[in-house]
Amino acid sequence: MSQFNLILLGPPGAGKGTQAGRIVADYGIPHISTGDILRGAVKNQTAMGIEAKKFMDAGDLVPDSVVIGIVKDRLQEPDTAKGFLMDGFPRTIPQAEALDKVLESLGRDVTKTIVILVDEEDLVGRLSGRRICRSCQAPFHVIFNPPEVEKQCDKCGGELYQRVDDTEATVRNRLEVYRDQTEPLIEYYDRAGVVARIDGAQAPEAVYDDIRAALGPIPE
Ligand code: AP5
Ligand code: MG
Ligand code: ZN
Repeated sequence: MSQFNLILLGPPGAGKGTQAGRIVADYGIPHISTGDILRGAVKNQTAMGIEAKKFMDAGDLVPDSVVIGIVKDRLQEPDTAKGFLMDGFPRTIPQAEALDKVLESLGRDVTKTIVILVDEEDLVGRLSGRRICRSCQAPFHVIFNPPEVEKQCDKCGGELYQRVDDTEATVRNRLEVYRDQTEPLIEYYDRAGVVARIDGAQAPEAVYDDIRAALGPIPE
């Protein structure tokens, strides 16, 4: 059985969450977003959430040990047998090395790393207009992807809200953190020969067409 062990890589606001919804629906694999999992922990005020909140609100990375633990646990779940889509993980070289080790222990490897590329100035506008569903986390945009009913999720009817880390100053810091700590992962996965670079400045449908072309046919 061919596996789809996929990683979505790209700067904040590149459209990872937007494209993830389409990919997991078509390929039948679970969406593993460390950002979504961490925001859930913050909302539920778990010990991990309380610890993570200060990093997230500042736009800094949560410590590697915390996120690596999350992903290791998640990969034990049976729904990952056919593959998975990592969104926002790994974000540092130690995280990528930890993922390689876990996958190796499971007899698996990374099938493809999809890198979504967008210019920095576009990202600030995307993030400041973003709204997220409180229930299903689906992202919208007040101009580029407005919901049919104002402040309401098209998919589940949930309430839309603005993330606390989507202010301009925090976005600038997140972009800097991306450049310093996450961008080097493109080269890391280039060495493994699994990178597909996608032009993320196009309309969401066109971005998805390119991703589909890079991933190949949906398995039976
Ligand atoms: P995370 O939740 O992963 O945030 P991020 O990486 O900053 O990415 P975003 O979710 O902001 O952007 P996206 O690429 O998903 O874009 P979206 O599709 O929503 O992480 C948040 C925080 O958690 C981190 O800062 C860190 O503190 C912590 N964290 C998470 N993972 C971690 C890890 N592994 N290690 C350490 N810490 C971690 O789209 C953005 C907007 O643009 C939307 O409004 C959308 O409608 C719009 N849009 C999308 N596509 C298009 C398009 N083609 N054209 C026009 N508009 C578009
Ligand atoms: Mg996201
Ligand atoms: Zn929703």
